[in-house]
Formats: sequence, C-alpha cells, structure tokens
Amino acid sequence: MNSLNEAWFARAQKVLPGGVDSPVRSFRSVGGIPFTVARGSGAYVEDVEGRRYLDYVQSYGASLLGHAHPAVVKALREAVGEGTTFGAPTPGEVLLAEAMTTRVKGLEQVRLVSSGTEALMSAVRLARGVTRRDKIVKFDGCYHGHSDALLVAGGSGVAQMGLPGSAGVTAGAVGDTIVAPYNEVPTLDETVAAVLVEPVAANMNLVAPATGFLRGLRAECSRVGALLIFDEVITGFRLAYAGAEAFFDVTPDIWCFGKVIGGGLPVGAFGASRDIMSSLAPLGPVYQAGTLSGNPLATAAGTTVLNLVTPGDYEELTRRVATFARDFEQAIASSGLYGHCPTQGPLMGLFLSRQPFEAPSNFVDAKALCENGLYRTFFHAMLDRGVALAPGAYEILFVSLAHSTEDLATTVHYAAEAAKVAATT
Ligand SMILES: Cc1ncc(COP(=O)(O)O)c(C=O)c1O
Repeated sequence: MNSLNEAWFARAQKVLPGGVDSPVRSFRSVGGIPFTVARGSGAYVEDVEGRRYLDYVQSYGASLLGHAHPAVVKALREAVGEGTTFGAPTPGEVLLAEAMTTRVKGLEQVRLVSSGTEALMSAVRLARGVTRRDKIVKFDGCYHGHSDALLVAGGSGVAQMGLPGSAGVTAGAVGDTIVAPYNEVPTLDETVAAVLVEPVAANMNLVAPATGFLRGLRAECSRVGALLIFDEVITGFRLAYAGAEAFFDVTPDIWCFGKVIGGGLPVGAFGASRDIMSSLAPLGPVYQAGTLSGNPLATAAGTTVLNLVTPGDYEELTRRVATFARDFEQAIASSGLYGHCPTQGPLMGLFLSRQPFEAPSNFVDAKALCENGLYRTFFHAMLDRGVALAPGAYEILFVSLAHSTEDLATTVHYAAEAAKVAATT
C-alpha cells in the first residue's frame, strides 16, 4: 500500500505536470517525492499523513509571521464576507499602498499586481517606456520571475533544473537582455533602459552584495540615465522594516515587491516616484493591467502583516538569525564538513563543502558549492528528523517571526546529526 504522500503525489502527477505547480517544489534536484502539505501553523507545516515539519521554506519567503497567523486569518475572514473581487477600486489597495509608501523613502506610488513575476515584467516595460531605450542588464544567478526577457541565467529553479534559460523563449525576447556577473559594476551606455538587481542575491543560495556594489550600480545608472530596479521580492519588508533601500542606504528608481506584501496571498507590486509612475496607463503610454490586481483578500492579508510588524521585530529576528547561523556552522563543523551560513539581516544561506572555502561572491562560485552533491543528503537527513529545508541547494532558509529560539536550537541539534550523515555518505 502506498503512503498517503505517495498516493497524493501519484494523483498529482496524473493531472499536474511533474505533480507540481512550480518546479522548485518537485524534489527533482534532491531526489525522492515531495510530501503533500495539508496545513501549516506558525513555524510548522503538517503533511497529509499528520507528520509535522519545522518549516524553513515558509512559501519561499511569503510568510513573515509564520503560517496561519491569527491576525491574518481574522483579516481574511472579515474580508471574504464582503466579496472577493470587484474589478473596481477598493479601500484595501489604498491601505496596502499607503503602508508600503510610508515606509520606503522615495517610493511614492505603487501598482499592485498578482505575483513577483508580473511586477518585474511590468517594471521592465515601464523602464523601457520612460527611457525609450531597449536594453536591460541583469546579473548571473539572480532570479526575477519567469517572464521571457528575464529568464536567462536565472538562479532558483532554473539553476536547480540545470537549465541555461528555458525552451520556448525566443532569441528575440532575450536579445536585449545583457547578463553581467554579480558583484561587478558593469560599464553601461546610453542604450540601457534599466539594471535589475536583487539587492541581496537570494536565488543562488545567499550571496551578499560586496561593499560598494549597489552604490556603484546607482552611480553608473545615473551616469548614463538608466533606471536602477531593485528586485525586492525577497528582501522587501523582510531584510528590514523598510527593505533594502534602508538597509544599504542606496535608492533605486523602481522597486519590485512580492511575497511578504501579500501575507501569503498572491500579490506583487512595482513602484517608483510619482513622476515615473505617471507614465503608466491610465495616465501615460505604458500599458499594464490585471483583473485580480489589488485583490481585496490579498490586500487585507498584506496590510495586516505590514501593520503588525515593528522595526523591533526585524532587529530581534536579525539577532536570532545571527546566533542561529553561528550555531548552525558549528554544528556542521562538528561533522568534519565545512559549512558557511551567510546572513544579511534576517536572511540566511547555507553552503556545504568537504573542503575549506571562501564565501561565494558570484554565481560561478555559488554554483560550484551548490552542485557538490552534499546538500541532497543533508536535506533528506534533516527531513527525516522533521526539519523541512527547501528542496534545492540554490534556495535560502526563511526564518519567520514564529520560529522560537527553541525551534532554532532543535534545528541546530539535527543539523549536527544530518551533517554527519552527509559527511559519511
Ligand atoms: C527575487 C525574486 N524576484 C522575483 C520572483 C518571482 O516572484 P513570483 O514567484 O511571485 O512570480 C522571485 C520568486 O521567487 C524572486 O525570488
């Protein structure tokens, strides 16, 4: 008899390609079959067999407060009875936009969309429309969603599947996309509309921006009149109370958000100064639209999260993660393996190796570590002990505000055991 997880996955594979709706969930790069989640609460998820896992995926960063936070559930219950979509302006979208723009200096207006991909895709169109230029620059190993022009040299699932890009993307669609190595400021010219960057690269595991990198990009963009786009889909309202701009003191021209701002529901946003945003339809010539954009449920959840979290919460989470990272590294070291857990605020990565190594500063270095095969064994040894890391070496660990110091200590204990398994396999 198949287990319930196996049975659900077999059913899923009949009707969903690969059994999943997003490739990173498939366990392709770590082997085995994914467990099917029935519910989640705080730092934990529970599968269809009733097995609980301490969850460091947290919907790839969408859950900052942990799963099914009571305040979010309450806001959703209240919102759902009022109707779930109207195709007309609602107070909820104003409240979410206000919560975002009051926190982030220079962000005067946002357009709400339904995913991070949509935010990035629309931001590129806006940048091209405003500058009347075609070329865009992205960095090797940064992931900006799955729109055609941005799906080259992507991290996350694109890297996990070993794909250089994707079939179905025409040469024309990527002909204006220039790929540069992360942490090196490229020399631009007047054909470049925009430079897109993850302020902290979090889709090639975690690679921090080198000192001066973001500031250098800002200066180079300003020099040639290109727009700097911060992809804050992961860093936005997670790295710090006001996101990457406040954390690094570098101001982009256009911001993109997703994940945290939806409180676990599908939302994305892109925003800029009023001047730049006035190029968007209905005010200007750049068309962008969406039936479910600014959806009342999503805005209710997102606004609840943003209004609940204080600057002190980010400081506390940063402190907790700093200790967690140090203890995690020691746990790995106790096995004879070498481990590095880079952190940036509350974001934490994990690289494993059999040899001593330097913290990676670009995709080439990160990839060599992510592909050394150790993560696969480590991942399964952790899963066997009830700790769910992301099923791919290119992802980071998401520690939510619901992860207690006890949860983190338990994880460190199991990390020591799992590292021993990986060291001897
Ligand atoms: C930095 C970054 N940008 C964009 C995206 C795309 O967001 P979505 O999956 O909501 O389309 C992601 C998704 O993981 C991301 O990490």
